[in-house]
Amino acid sequence: MTELTKLDLLDALRESRPDRLQALYGRADAVRKENVGDAVHLRGLIEVSSHCVRQCMYCGLRQGNRDLPRYRMAREEIEECARQAVRLGYGTVVMQAGEDDGLTAEWIAEIVRWIKSETALAVTLSLGERSQAELRMWRSAGADRYLLRFETSDKNLFHAIHPDRYANGPDRLTLLKQLKDLGYEAGGGVMVGIPGQSFESLANDIFTFRALDLDMIGIGPYIAHAATPLGTGALRPAIDPFEQVPNSEEMVYKMIALTRIVCPTANIPSTTALATINKVDGRKLGLKAGANVVMPNLTPVKYRSMYEIYPAKACIEESATDCNQCLRGQIHSIGRVAGQGPGGKGAMETVARVMADAPPHLVQLQR
Ligand code: 5AD
Ligand code: FES
Repeated sequence: MTELTKLDLLDALRESRPDRLQALYGRADAVRKENVGDAVHLRGLIEVSSHCVRQCMYCGLRQGNRDLPRYRMAREEIEECARQAVRLGYGTVVMQAGEDDGLTAEWIAEIVRWIKSETALAVTLSLGERSQAELRMWRSAGADRYLLRFETSDKNLFHAIHPDRYANGPDRLTLLKQLKDLGYEAGGGVMVGIPGQSFESLANDIFTFRALDLDMIGIGPYIAHAATPLGTGALRPAIDPFEQVPNSEEMVYKMIALTRIVCPTANIPSTTALATINKVDGRKLGLKAGANVVMPNLTPVKYRSMYEIYPAKACIEESATDCNQCLRGQIHSIGRVAGQGPGGKGAMETVARVMADAPPHLVQLQR
């Protein structure tokens, strides 16, 4: 297969003819099938805390949003979510939160150790920009993966929408490299259609995914949140209107497809943000354009509305069992199968292998 050049990417990102777009999605779908198979991996998402010390200009969890009630889950609640993940047949849990200093390194490490000793689950952490010492401790505790989207590879735009916490801290690209060095599977990703984001920067984002050799790549639409400076228009990064990327569904499918073609073995989710802007078909269409992962929500329903990164989030009232059934139905309806086991990068896991790895009491639980 010929390599895509920057011009190819730019042409594809600006494409709007339906037949050409279908051809692009079809090509990405074939690359997906050949490299990661038909399995769609289910990652159970646990939104452990909505506290955040940062001021990201687009994010509803930003510290400046005084209207958002905050919560931090109890250890027992998180462990119950992990048990639920096992009962529902998921291979991975993702512990995600705002950048919350109340989540101490040792507390997280203890929970990771518990999950790793009591279950066969892979553990993914998504807790923001944390120190090397913390990341190392969590890796030693057994965490398998870490998600940290870099949001945009355009440095000026990144800085405009992410007020610094540390004057001389590592940037997210450096952090992603460090995560890989620590032995994590590393996940990055971007939002599509951020005010101020150009087509050229999106093409660079895709090359950045490849240069970092990311194991997971999350891509979702930017969704305006009225309690944020970017959402109200109080902050308006300057850009030529012809260069501005729309935050449309189609733009996200194009990004997923091109990313699949450029990074054939990566795990790519069909994101909740995509499901939010097309509640009927968004997830399925993402899966048909190159994605191979979905992230059903395990967070107790009473907390869901308090984890409002962006408004009108999909699945805000559905229980974990509802989300599970709904997603499995969607997966089957497009002729795919639910993945078994941890589903690491490039894996085509079988039930047999996963069961062989599991502690005996768990094999029972999974039946
Ligand atoms: N719209 C869409 N995605 C958002 N995120 C944060 N705020 C928004 C928003 N307003 C995404 C970021 C972050 C992930 C957890 O959620 O990409 O990395
Ligand atoms: Fe907390 Fe964005 S404001 S992650």
